[in-house]
Amino acid sequence: MHPQATYILAIESSCDDTSAAVLQDDKVLSNVIASQQVHQQYGGVVPELASRAHQQHIVPVVDQALAQAQVEKSQLAAIAFTRGPGLQGSLLVGVSFAKSLALALRIPLIEVNHLQGHILSHFIENPAQQKPTFPFLAMTISGGHTQILKVTDYFSMEILGQTQDDAVGEAFDKTAKILGLPYPGGPLIDRYAKEGNPKAFPFPFPKVEGLDFSFSGLKTAVLYFIQKQTQQNPSFVQDNMADICASVQYTIIEILMRKLKKAVTQTGITQIAIGGGVCANSALRTALQQLAHKHHWQTFIPPFQYCTDNAAMIGIAAYYKYLRGDFSDMSVTAQARYHL
Ligand code: KG4
Ligand code: ZN
Repeated sequence: MHPQATYILAIESSCDDTSAAVLQDDKVLSNVIASQQVHQQYGGVVPELASRAHQQHIVPVVDQALAQAQVEKSQLAAIAFTRGPGLQGSLLVGVSFAKSLALALRIPLIEVNHLQGHILSHFIENPAQQKPTFPFLAMTISGGHTQILKVTDYFSMEILGQTQDDAVGEAFDKTAKILGLPYPGGPLIDRYAKEGNPKAFPFPFPKVEGLDFSFSGLKTAVLYFIQKQTQQNPSFVQDNMADICASVQYTIIEILMRKLKKAVTQTGITQIAIGGGVCANSALRTALQQLAHKHHWQTFIPPFQYCTDNAAMIGIAAYYKYLRGDFSDMSVTAQARYHL
């Protein structure tokens, strides 16, 4: 162990993953994630069940994170947690746990905005990957978020555009539900789409001003289309699964890439860092690479374990706050709607 190193324990519990990570400065020593299977049967996250599952998972997840990192509680310099945005009942579990531990160990408490965590995940030490330099554009795409931001410093970020309704992951998941696929449907759509024709069925593009997004119209268009087609052919979905998935996926990716191009034109910034679970989408990665090559952009995608919700990203954000002496008061509360 390095005597001068700063060890931080971070906790993330904003949605349906209970996660704890231990960082040594900007290096991740452990990043344990307990995903909740209980929501699958409901086709989406059930908040009440999520908070109960966090209660069950939090102690073993934290113990495992410390054990994997081979760090004792007495070595910790601070406890970090996600303050919001997220589900209130889920956040409360992490906030209360972090407060109690910080109080017991008499060490500082550090609150982190979940969205800043996603963006700062690009600064986790990784010898194999370059880090973006300021200013850069960030696009966060997951089941809960769809945003394009201009990042001028670690904690100086401006939202340039965001979804007015559904998040992009929801567009994938709700489409999957219409097609009778299990939750979360994003990875399955990705898989079926590989065998399909993306131009088979054209879906309308939303007319949204500026850099904002809207995905609820696409969901409705898919629903009406499937209803109409199955009236004529009851096995339409089964017969055309690959083509439907490829067409919807193509539309979603086009929506994202068009806005990204617009953001680059508007800001003149060509460094683009993406994060969130939807980054796993193979066609999205290919589309981004092609655009980057064509327009000479530099793109950054964190390793997948730091794309989805995880405590390591909360830990890296907390590390930069620690360096600034930016600590939270013990009266801090969870904030379901927590703006940048
Ligand atoms: O970041 P994440 O794990 O959790 C939050 O929502 O914050 O993202 C999960 C979302 C789900 O909507 C899931 O369907 C989507 O990411 N997703 C994908 C893929 N893998 C995960 N969507 C499209 N293609 C994928 N390969
Ligand atoms: Zn997230």
